[in-house]
Amino acid sequence: DKIEAFRKTLLDWYDANKRDLPWRRTSNPYYIWISEIMLQQTQVDTVIPYYERFIDTLPEISDLAEASEDTLLKLWEGLGYYSRVRNMKIAAGQIMTDHNGIFPEEYDAIKSLKGIGPYTAGAVSSIAFNQPQPAVDGNVMRVLSRLFEIELDIGKASSRKVFEEMIRLLIDKNRPGDFNQALMDLGATICTPRNYKPEMSPVKDFNASYLNETWTRYPVKAGK
Ligand code: ADE
Repeated sequence: DKIEAFRKTLLDWYDANKRDLPWRRTSNPYYIWISEIMLQQTQVDTVIPYYERFIDTLPEISDLAEASEDTLLKLWEGLGYYSRVRNMKIAAGQIMTDHNGIFPEEYDAIKSLKGIGPYTAGAVSSIAFNQPQPAVDGNVMRVLSRLFEIELDIGKASSRKVFEEMIRLLIDKNRPGDFNQALMDLGATICTPRNYKPEMSPVKDFNASYLNETWTRYPVKAGK
């Protein structure tokens, strides 16, 4: 069917074009979590050396749980939003005490960790544990808005839940992590906020706003 054709087209494009990123060479949920927290506030190219240094310095969850304030400050200096790494240390402590030091697999258990919201819980559970959970950030909302001519304001918090339900229908159940990361790559490289060229998209045949020539209207974003 059409959804299956969409999945295959998107994943074939991802397999041929995915960016070679260090957190894509691991399935360690701790490392994937670190990458997702860093990527929330910082560009991929900037994150790479911070990520490498972080996992070299604190290779185990127990290392993060026991890390000094000074170590964390140095590892995070330049990334901004220092509270994020402070929360990560608290979450590492939760994993040590509540989960015997093993990163939890269950979505709700992941989301209960300090500093982990729906996006990060979805990213870690899909990428590290192959669970069909949505990981919807602003980039994914932009991609979906254009594909399906969605009129929802992507700046409104309540919109995210609707996009998550769309992903639940669309997501490839065999490769959920790759499916989510393919949408992230599409949003980062082709389905960009500016200079968007819909005819370049691997999924243009599925793109309602391209086929209807309405793509300049999406995503809907109330003026700030
Ligand atoms: N941005 C957020 N998460 C990402 C990931 N896993 N790969 C590439 N870019 C991302």
